[in-house]
Amino acid sequence: MTTFRYLTAGESHGPGLTVIVEGIPAGLEVTEEYIEKQMSRRQKGYGSGGRMKIEKDRADIRAGVRHGISLGSPIAMWIENRDFVNWTDAMSITPVDDDVDKKVYTKVVPGHADFPGALKYVQHDLRNVLERSSARETAARVAAASIARRLLEEIGIYIHSRAVATGDQDGRDVATSDVDWDAVEASEVRASDPDADTRFKAAIDKSKADRTTIGGVFEVVAFGAPVGLGSHVHWDRKLDGRLAQAMMSINAVKGVEIGTGFANTQKPGREVQDVIVPDPSDRRKFRHLTNSSGGIEGGMSNGQPIVVNVAIKPIATMTNPLPSVDINTGEVVEAAYNRSDICQVARACPVGEAMMALVLVEAMLEKFGGDSLDEIKRNYDGYIESHQEFGNP
Ligand SMILES: Cc1cc2nc3c(=O)[nH]c(=O)nc-3n(C[C@H](O)[C@H](O)[C@H](O)COP(=O)(O)O)c2cc1C
Repeated sequence: MTTFRYLTAGESHGPGLTVIVEGIPAGLEVTEEYIEKQMSRRQKGYGSGGRMKIEKDRADIRAGVRHGISLGSPIAMWIENRDFVNWTDAMSITPVDDDVDKKVYTKVVPGHADFPGALKYVQHDLRNVLERSSARETAARVAAASIARRLLEEIGIYIHSRAVATGDQDGRDVATSDVDWDAVEASEVRASDPDADTRFKAAIDKSKADRTTIGGVFEVVAFGAPVGLGSHVHWDRKLDGRLAQAMMSINAVKGVEIGTGFANTQKPGREVQDVIVPDPSDRRKFRHLTNSSGGIEGGMSNGQPIVVNVAIKPIATMTNPLPSVDINTGEVVEAAYNRSDICQVARACPVGEAMMALVLVEAMLEKFGGDSLDEIKRNYDGYIESHQEFGNP
């Protein structure tokens, strides 16, 4: 039986998004305010499009929580799309008259789900593909992950993220261990130092002036994970593999790196492996001297911060559209333009945090699973205590 799962439903301009989260134990404090705070982080960002000014996301909890405490039953949430008032006919669930504006579009946007989706699902209105492939769906993931985060916090796991590159500008000067995460939170481009903040904004301004878009790289870090989340015993239980799949599922993500995976390829082995030394003051009884492996060895967390770098491509929709085709007539046309972001790197960061939380909570429940929060904490404490058997002369 799956320990933890979640499902989302909803179209970008439809009435709203539905989320069901299953596997959260009884006894966890869950409030709409906490979820709203996490969701608002996905909506901030220099270079965001007009949509973010319309939507002020909040998730209404509809089931699974009583008096602010989880019951152990599935948690259901509803996130209203405030923009739906402008789309009531075009996105009506029920049939509409032929003469209403259905906001049909047929000019393929290269780099979107339009082309394969139209042929696969036999759709002559590309909106029938775009409405679900849009990153609007990530609001539902962030809502689900807010509950996962609450549970992870109970055993001391905290997740952060920052932009480490925007367009051709690199912003990796500050080491992961030295980042002031409050400063990142205050930066509209989620940069970790003022110089990178200025350069990232200038890159976004230039791309706007050039009527194009830019992507980048963001880093997601989980602090406080114990040794032993995930497993080496089978391919689909490996934590690095699960994180890679989760990050890759974020819209527009095209690359995932665990730790310094790519840079490591250019170094000799002696400089890449993280040497382990005894340390009675560490709860693991040992300590790594470096963290090139990004906190994962053999598909298992090793007690170091879990670090994942994620490459996100430039947005496909541009005010100066690419040449393209009309899906129905085959005519050569300009790609469609719908209101769009210039750079989504900062906004993708909280989505990356959400995917990290969803993977870690599943792995955490596999290891320490229980039906109540108290049971999970007892299992966790007993396991941490078992580390005392090691490293004794
Ligand atoms: C937070 C976020 C916001 C996005 N905003 C837009 C947008 O405004 N316009 C756009 O064309 N694509 C946007 N995207 C990317 C598309 O959703 C994505 O490129 C598209 O669904 C095709 O999927 P693929 O790039 O993963 O192949 C966004 C992605 C993320 C993560």
